[in-house]
Amino acid sequence: MTKIICVVNDEVKEGSDLKKEHGVSFWIEMQHSNVLFDTGQSPEVLSHNLNLLGLSPINIDALVFSHAHYDHTGGVAAIIPQRTTIPLYANSDLFRARYSDKDHVHKPIGIAMMESDLSHYFYLKLGEDPAEVKPGLWTTGTIQERPERMGISKHHVIHTQAGWEHDSYQDDISLVLKTATGNVLICGCCHAGILNTLSHAKKVFGDPSIGVIGGTHLISADDQYLDHIIAVFQERYPDCNFYLNHCTGKNAIDRLMEKLGDRIQIFPAGSTIEFPE
Ligand SMILES: [Fe+2]
Ligand SMILES: [Fe+2]
Repeated sequence: MTKIICVVNDEVKEGSDLKKEHGVSFWIEMQHSNVLFDTGQSPEVLSHNLNLLGLSPINIDALVFSHAHYDHTGGVAAIIPQRTTIPLYANSDLFRARYSDKDHVHKPIGIAMMESDLSHYFYLKLGEDPAEVKPGLWTTGTIQERPERMGISKHHVIHTQAGWEHDSYQDDISLVLKTATGNVLICGCCHAGILNTLSHAKKVFGDPSIGVIGGTHLISADDQYLDHIIAVFQERYPDCNFYLNHCTGKNAIDRLMEKLGDRIQIFPAGSTIEFPE
């Protein structure tokens, strides 16, 4: 069985002593290896939660960043003292400077560590193409085709030769876990758009997904677009269940639950789900 444990999230399981923060981190426990997908935003919360869940950074065999944002990469310092010389997978656009623009004040929101620092600790595996992290666990690679709406925040900007531009989130990737019953998509923020990412995964890996786990950045999606997503889920992904958290947003979760019932579940920190390998 492959076990996916939510270590960090904006919400924690009721009654748990785990700490919550805006961000996400998943522990993926496979037969012969463990992969950490994102690190939340602070080393303190990641260390506290790993410890409380009985998980140790010493046992991490590979690290993957879904994208550069601080709420996915900021906790990495919790791993470094205990576990280095492991591969770190991410998109090649990871180290571009990214900002939040509020009233023309530009606050950095990308990865805090420089490439030269991270490469001192990890074997950096940056690329555009899908990469096999461990047998049966792949990165999606860059989501090239994005006919559907992306998961954007209007404040997210980058600086180019042309000046300030909206971030196009080229760094955003997800993971695809191949299981005995189908593919499971594991998302960080899914800025590339959940429908674009699902369709990319289907095209690259064949089978449609039977599960989606993580943040889907529907936090600012209006009801009309949510209904479009629901219709696509029903038509193209009838066997897929959704375990949602982080930037999915309460309004989206409530509407999806209303229309799709048990197929939609929340996945706060402390939640675990297993799939046959
Ligand atoms: Fe993000
Ligand atoms: Fe995020």
